[in-house]
Formats: sequence, C-alpha cells, structure tokens
Amino acid sequence: MSLTVQPAWFRGVTARAAGAIGRLISSVWETSRARRSRPLLYIAVGAVAGAAVLLMVSSLLGAAVETWSRGDVQLRARIVLLSARDQIEQLARDPSPEAATKLQALFTRLITDERLQAVGICDPDGKMRTATDTMPARLLCASIRRSKAETTVPIRIDSQDLLVSAFPLAEGKEGHVVIVHDLTYAKARSDHAQTFIMVTTIIAALLASGAVAVAMLMLVRNWRAALRATLDDLRAGRLEGAGPVTTLPAELREALDQYDLVRRTIDGIHIDWTPDTLQRALGSELPGAEVLVVSNREPYIHNHTDAGITVQLPASGLVSAIEPVIRACGGTWIAHGSGSADRDSVDAADRIAVPPDAPSYTLRRIWLTDEEQDGYYYGFANEGMWPLCHIAFVRPTFREADWRYYREVNQKFADAVVREAKTHDPIVLVQDYHFALLPRMVRKHLPKATIITFWHIPWPNAETFGICPWKEEIIEGLLGSSILGFHTNFHCNNFFETIDRFVESRIDRERRSITLGGQETMVRAYPISIEWPPSALAGQAPVPACRAAVRQRFGLGEGVRVGIGIERFDYTKGILDRLHGVDVLLSRHPEWRGAVTFIQAAAPTRSKIASYRALQDEAVALAEEINNRYRTPDWQPLILSIRHHQPPEVFELFRAADFCVVSSLHDGMNLVAKEFVAARDDERGVLVLSTFAGASRELAEALIVNPYHAHDMAEAIHRALMMPVDEQEARMRQMRALVRTRNVYRWAGQMLLDAAQLRRREGIERLAAANLPAVPRLLGRRLA
Ligand code: F6P
Repeated sequence: MSLTVQPAWFRGVTARAAGAIGRLISSVWETSRARRSRPLLYIAVGAVAGAAVLLMVSSLLGAAVETWSRGDVQLRARIVLLSARDQIEQLARDPSPEAATKLQALFTRLITDERLQAVGICDPDGKMRTATDTMPARLLCASIRRSKAETTVPIRIDSQDLLVSAFPLAEGKEGHVVIVHDLTYAKARSDHAQTFIMVTTIIAALLASGAVAVAMLMLVRNWRAALRATLDDLRAGRLEGAGPVTTLPAELREALDQYDLVRRTIDGIHIDWTPDTLQRALGSELPGAEVLVVSNREPYIHNHTDAGITVQLPASGLVSAIEPVIRACGGTWIAHGSGSADRDSVDAADRIAVPPDAPSYTLRRIWLTDEEQDGYYYGFANEGMWPLCHIAFVRPTFREADWRYYREVNQKFADAVVREAKTHDPIVLVQDYHFALLPRMVRKHLPKATIITFWHIPWPNAETFGICPWKEEIIEGLLGSSILGFHTNFHCNNFFETIDRFVESRIDRERRSITLGGQETMVRAYPISIEWPPSALAGQAPVPACRAAVRQRFGLGEGVRVGIGIERFDYTKGILDRLHGVDVLLSRHPEWRGAVTFIQAAAPTRSKIASYRALQDEAVALAEEINNRYRTPDWQPLILSIRHHQPPEVFELFRAADFCVVSSLHDGMNLVAKEFVAARDDERGVLVLSTFAGASRELAEALIVNPYHAHDMAEAIHRALMMPVDEQEARMRQMRALVRTRNVYRWAGQMLLDAAQLRRREGIERLAAANLPAVPRLLGRRLA
C-alpha cells in the first residue's frame, strides 16, 4: 500500500501555470521591446497579473472546498460508527462464526451510503478480520496506527483518492473499526467550485469593464464636446473684441486649461519636450536625416566695433525660436551675412561654426549686394509682403524691380541649399515670407527633400492677399513644400481660402492638404514658442535685485511702479497705441501720476523704410508730448530706450516690471509675451496682451485688450497695477505651465514628427509604385 499526501493535482496545475505565465511574459517583453510598444506590454502584464490572481483565488477556494468536504466525510464516518458502535463492539467480541456473519452483514448495510466505500475491522495484531468485499486489498492494517484515539488519513490506492478513518475499540486493545470513504466526490465538488468561481468572475469582470468603458466613453465624449464648444464660444467672443479687458474669471480659466491639458493627454501621448527629447525624436523617427535651415536673418552677427569684433544676437523671434532647435539637432543654417565683420569671420566656403562659445552647428553665410538687399529685403519682403499680411493699415507697395530681386535672391539661397546638402533627401526648414519661392526651386533639384516651410507672420484673408500682383507665383512657390506651417488654424484656413480663390489645385480639407502639379503639401498649425528654461534666465539676479538695478539705471524713485514694453520699432507692434494708453491712464486715474513709469525699449529696425522711420519719429514726439504734460521735477511717465538690447538685459527689464504690455495690432504669435512669462520665476507681474496677437489664444490669463481702444488699454494697466498678489501668482503660474509644456522644442518636434510620418508614407508609395504601378494613388489615400 502506498500512502500519498494530497493534493498533487494542485501542485501540478500551479507548476504548469507558472511555466506558461513565465513564457508569456518573456515573449510579450521581447515583442514590446522589438516594437517599442510599451502600452502592449502593460496590457499584457496587467492581463497576466489578473489571470494569476484569478488562478490563485480559485485554487485557494478549491482547496477550501476540498478541506471542507473532507471534514464532512470524517463527520459522516463518525456518525456511522456511533450509530452502530454498540452492535459492532458486541459482535466483534463474539468469536463465533455467526457473529462474524452478522458483523459482515452489518458492514454491508452501512456502505449503502454512496460515499462510504468499505468498512472492516483490523485486529490488534494487524490483520483485517471482517470487512466488506469493497475493502481495497492493498489497504494494510499494519499501516493503521495503533492509536488510542481516532485517526483519519487521506491515501491514494490505484489512482483512487480515499479517506481512511480508524476508530479504536476498547482503546485499540480489541482492534480498530476502519471506515473507508471515496474522496472522488470531494475533489469533484472542489473542481466544480473552482470552475464556477472562475467563470463567474470572468463574466462579471467582462460585464463590469464593458459597462465602465461605455460609460467613460460617453462621459468623456460629452464632456469634451461640451467644453470644446464652450471654450470656442468664449474665445470667439473675446476675439471679436466684444468689450474692454475681456478676461475670463480665473476659476473658469483654470478649469478650461485643465481641460486643455486633459485633451492634450487624451488626443495624443503627452510628451515633455526638451532638447534631449527632440534629439531622440530625430534619431528614432528620422535616423541619419540631414537638417538644413534657411532664413534671412542670421543667428549670430559679427560687427566691427571699437572693442574689436563683437557678436550680436539679433532681435528676432524667428532666430530665438530656431536657434535652440538647431543647437539640439545640429546641421547647417543658411542665412544672409549682414554684419560688418561677417566676411572676416567665415572660412573660405563662407562657413563658421556656432554658437561661438560652444559650436554645435554650421552657419553658412550668403552675401547680398546693396541692390539685392534693397529690392528683396526692404522692397518686396518688407514693403510688400509684410504690410500685406499684417493688417496694420499701412499700405503695401509692390514694385516690379523688387519682385525681380526677390526672385533672384530666392534662387541664390535655393542654390546654396542644393550645394550644402550632402544627401539627396535632406530636411529643409524654410523660414518666413522672405522665401516664398524657394521651396519649389529646391524641390526641382532635390525632389526627395522634405521641405518644411514655416510662415512666421499672419496669412491674410483671400481678398487682402488678392492685392499682390504675383499671388499665383507666391502660392506655387510655397506649394513646393512638403509641409507648410502657420501659427494658428485661423491662418491655415485663410491660406486654404486663398488657394481656393486663386489657383487650380486639389484641396483636401479632411487631410488638410493641397495638391498642385502632383506635389502634395500638408498645411498645419504649429504655434511657435520659446526655449524652456530660457537661457537668458540663467545668471539673472533675484527679482528684487533686478528691480533695484533697473530703478537705478533709469533714475526711478523707490515707490514708483514700473511698466515695460520691448520689441523692434515696428508699426505692427502698437507702440503708439500703448503710449496713448498710458496717457489715458494718467488722465482717468490721476492717482497714478508720479507713481508709475512706463519704459519702452525698442530696437531700431528696417530704418531704410519710410514707414519705420516715421513711426520712430512719431513715437519720440508723442512720448515727449505726454511727458511734458505730466512730468514733475523728479518723475516722468514715459522712458524710451531706443537701441538693441541683448537677451540678458531684456530679461532683467522683464523681472523688474510690475506689468508688461504687448499691444500688437496684428501678430502671428509674439514671443515677447511668452518671454515675459518665462522671465518671471517669482510668479509675479501682469501681462497686458493684445487680442490680435496669436499668443492671446494660448496666454488667456493675461489681461486681453483691444490695442485700438486707448480707454481699454488704460483700464487694463490700471487693473494690472491694482491686482492683488495672489491673483498675479495664480495667473502667472498658469501661463508658465503652458509655456513650459508648449515650448519651442514641441513646436519643432511636432513638425519633424509630421515630416517623419510623411517620409514613411512616401517610402511606402514608392515601394507600391515599383511593385504595382496602378496602386500608389489609392494606397496614398488609404495611408492618410
Ligand atoms: O515676425 C516675422 C519676423 O521674421 C520674425 O520672425 C522676426 O522676429 C522679425 O520678423 C525680424 O525681422 P527682421 O529680420 O527683418 O529684423
């Protein structure tokens, strides 16, 4: 007889399950690693963990049921014995054959219970004396312990699970009554319990998760739709310039921005964009891609000065956006060499490694003659396109000669791109309205290049654009791009409308693309931003020290509050309008006389153009006139600082200010607004922001104003000066969170990821074209 301790089945199942789970985890891990599909891994691990818990719970429950069944069996054996104990003892003591026959008959009656298999008596000397026929032959009395107390042991004989109870007669001196129970039913009961619990748990889990998923989906959809509509309504209302200082209540704004954050996370994977993320995105999505940037303005200008050759960083939103990106990615930046010492700083191929202190990319300078500069830059770009695209009520001027130079200079830069390209399919980042013709020119020589053109200024409505005598050429040039980016969807829509009006092409609004002459251009909004954290913030003194330095520099009294405005001296910036705003403030709120000074720092720009010179003259005269009206011996309301300010100086002014005014009459984005927010790590200061700057779509916690309405501006400044510290902090914190996440790396990253997707699609189309000439167009549509 072999005695085996139970339950062996449990150990077997557990071992098999553990093996299977191990194999499953390792195979899912490998797959997820190979495909970079971490979500799949998490789902698989979750599923495996859930299955393991379920298996464990059901096994434990099965074991509990089995133990309980055995207890039940044991109890029955005892009851059986008790019911016949006297009779058994009496017959057992009687050595006659009749008594043995009666005992046998009694035992046979007892086993009519279906779970009772056999009953017998073991002699004190270890022999089975009387037993039913069903007693297993291999059950040896010797193995029954000569215990004085009742014992029960589970045993396995010939693959049958049995429970043997031994009851001593006269404390074992007269032998043991042995009752054998069949345990098959206990195991069956436990298996049933296990199966039942597994099936019901799985069904319940499926039903519950299905119900939760449907409810969440409906909830999120309704919630998103309702909030989106509300957000759009509110913003539309504000953009239509309904009334003065139309800001939303802080709580509502906070809720809307949290929604924005959630929407970003729901709509796509939320990525924290840094130079490192950008580099890694490039490395993984566009491996080995060569990056070329083309812009008019160069990132570093070398000038001859009394102190020798000095390097100037231009006052350009474009440069401050692109520079951190190319620093992160490396590559070549092709730009006009405009500094007096630029030629003396380059090598024989007109190249120089920059940034000067830690070179990480190449600047390739292009030289322009004075005539080219006058016709292309001052003429067509800045007297034609600039006023055409900015609705600032300065009439655009279009001259045939300027247009000719514009074409020639575009060709000159396009040739340089082709020459600088080391690969046949580089990524070319074309910047701005100076190079509308260049994308098609480059495409002609590098048909496989991915050309991303970003238009840094607004795109006007079709009617306004129709003024341009060379509108078709401009549009055709731009549609040589693979991707054309604007700051806002509003400008994208204006562009679609313009194309619809003036050129024969296929517009696919669903895909947001335009196809002209077989070249498809994706048209997308990419709101530009600044680097985070801004390098100009490094090394800045604490805010109180900046305030003290600025007060001293401008001779301001201790208690005088400070307002700041910083930009190029450009008529689109609304500089005159904010001076009028200060004037109205002092007349409507005389309590601010002697108590607030507004510092306007403005870099002279495009001074060859009459409208720019006129603006500067007018601003100087207006400031003088306002100062004369209000000045006291130790105070004046306006200070103009007309010169170029380097970034650290700009950031010091931002940090010293109680409020900053950005009053653009029309602006694609306006990065000054974002820089002011970035400079205020103390979370203080108020931003007064024009509703006509693209930045107002994002920085909704600013005091939004209509710059054409001097009264509105004055009230916004008054409100900024009166704003309690906790409200300043709440607004500033919100805006900083937005600028931090929507930084310039995200701007570039989104364009480059779109470019990567485009390249993959083109690769598949080429493959399909090679395999089956009829398929590519159809496939192209499917892949969109
Ligand atoms: O806003 C358009 C833009 O090209 C900016 O990107 C840049 O800040 C500004 O104009 C600079 O103009 P410019 O290079 O003519 O001085």
